[in-house]
Amino acid sequence: MSQVDVFINAERIAARVAELGTQIRADYGDVPILCIGVLKGSIVFMSDLMRAIPGDVRCGFLGVSSYAGTESTGIVRITHDLKQPIEGQHVLVVEDIVDTGLTLEFLLKTLTVRNPASVRVASLLDKPARRVVDVPVDYIGFPIEDRFVVGYGLDLDEKFR
Ligand code: IMP
Repeated sequence: MSQVDVFINAERIAARVAELGTQIRADYGDVPILCIGVLKGSIVFMSDLMRAIPGDVRCGFLGVSSYAGTESTGIVRITHDLKQPIEGQHVLVVEDIVDTGLTLEFLLKTLTVRNPASVRVASLLDKPARRVVDVPVDYIGFPIEDRFVVGYGLDLDEKFR
């Protein structure tokens, strides 16, 4: 990558995250929300989104890996599991970006068998043109075209986060 251009600026991100936080709390009502951040790309979005959701918000982290360079390997594996049970809890999976959807499909299967009260998904970015599996994304920060983006937590082989 020879040059990095600003694609979505910090002000737009902050404004959208604030909107999402308000919308998420309005949709859930007065229940505790367990935000599960998907490591590592979601950490910046996760920390901002958690603070934008009023009321009782808890957090956990799941690490998954599927990418090498700018291409998904298609094989998703857990690199760091949750440290707490999620049974009976309202889970909000927090992703940086949904691309092919393979990571999210794997995550939703992995989490659903643990019997949460509900599972929804919030993703900062969505690249619908790249989807190979149909996955539900309840809250989308910004739908984007098919281009590789970095920053605000997203990396290219660990660089540019
Ligand atoms: P998927 O399984 O193809 O949907 O890919 C999901 C994961 O791939 C995301 O959580 C990111 O970590 C990574 N990813 C996909 N597109 C990009 C990108 O444009 N920039 C950085 N990471 C990306």
